[in-house]
Amino acid sequence: MPQIIYHNGTMQIDHVSIEALASRYPTPFYCYSASAIRQQYLAFADAFADLPALICYAIKANSNQAILTLLAKLGAGADVVSEGELRRALAAGIPADKIVFSGVAKTATEIRFALSKNILCFNVESITELRQISALASANQQTAKVSMRINPDVDAGTHAKISTGKRENKFGIPFDYALQAYQLAATLPGITIVGIDMHIGSQISKVSAFDEAMQRIMELIKQLQELGINLEHVDVGGGLGVTYTDDDPSELTLLAEYSRVIHKYATALNCRIIFEPGRFIIANAGILVTEVIQVKPVQDKTFVMIDAAMNDLIRPTLYEAWHKISPAKQAAPDALSQPVDIVGPVCESGDYMAQNRPLTTVVVGDLLVIHSVGAYSAVASNTYNSRRLIAEVLVDGERDQLIRPSPSYRQLIELDSVPDWL
Ligand code: LLP
Repeated sequence: MPQIIYHNGTMQIDHVSIEALASRYPTPFYCYSASAIRQQYLAFADAFADLPALICYAIKANSNQAILTLLAKLGAGADVVSEGELRRALAAGIPADKIVFSGVAKTATEIRFALSKNILCFNVESITELRQISALASANQQTAKVSMRINPDVDAGTHAKISTGKRENKFGIPFDYALQAYQLAATLPGITIVGIDMHIGSQISKVSAFDEAMQRIMELIKQLQELGINLEHVDVGGGLGVTYTDDDPSELTLLAEYSRVIHKYATALNCRIIFEPGRFIIANAGILVTEVIQVKPVQDKTFVMIDAAMNDLIRPTLYEAWHKISPAKQAAPDALSQPVDIVGPVCESGDYMAQNRPLTTVVVGDLLVIHSVGAYSAVASNTYNSRRLIAEVLVDGERDQLIRPSPSYRQLIELDSVPDWL
């Protein structure tokens, strides 16, 4: 990202140096570049500007209200998976008629809440859920707009924990039951069919997987038309990969290839196309700033211990994710690197940010920057080991602002209550 680079020997995000930020906000903290988020959103929107497209940002990637507000102002809709996310989207000013409700097992309370807000549609995950939505809507003389999430049974070629479009995954209505689901939907009270939906996985760099899935969806659409069921939109989900390592394809090249795949089908579709990108919009716009708190050489390796841990960023240990890590102060061009393990203070061997990673010499007090953590990082953090959730900061040009403070220890402790009979 051009927004996150060394300038005069110091890393900066937009026009603010990491050292200046660390003097104002205690480490560790997340920091996002507003201009990088805008750049990604606009690149995505431009790729489909000639189509009747709606971009429903997948809020699960990063749901900070400041980021949602920024995206709402750019015209984004939202893909939500819970009542909490729906409330966040509405609170940020995303109009209800631009919100799709995915979510693999929605509760009755969540369905009722979404019905009361008259959202764009429910992405229905099963025939049981379809019946439930129908019952809840008709009991209140409401109509639910629905789109069936079809599991097209394709291999997205991504990490097993983020693959969702194979028949063995829990997601969506199996391809073979799809027609039956639509036929049922057409007869159920309180239901209007508006679309079809898929989402085959995340961090997908094999664009042919989208092509394969689209072919299957097109087959279904044709069969639906023969049954007299016409759709207002096709939701192609999210999943486009981004560049984490130097070996990954450039994300703009991927976007161009992806756009070609979608365009191949767009004319025949002749309806609105909904996209649910999450990672593409935000992953590379975020960094985690952390301080070295100990350097511990042992027999055959060195541990660089930092003040951020797996509770702040779980991706390395959960998905074997590789995040670039660089010192905030640029190393001399001839500085030697040695492989180290960069680890946090949590009492788990799985608490690492990188293993066997070449790093130039660092000392206690040095600042490190963990890159590409805008997506699925702060949202997945927790307070394990009674560590406080860390702050989030937004930078825009030369301005920076705290967009989520780190709670105090007192707030952390006061969340619990002790029965007076103890
Ligand atoms: N739509 C649905 C229904 C989804 O489940 C997801 C992501 C998206 C859209 C957005 O996908 P994206 O464009 O961001 O790939 N925690 C994992 C990623 C989990 C993705 C879950 N679903 C990680 O850190 O890699």
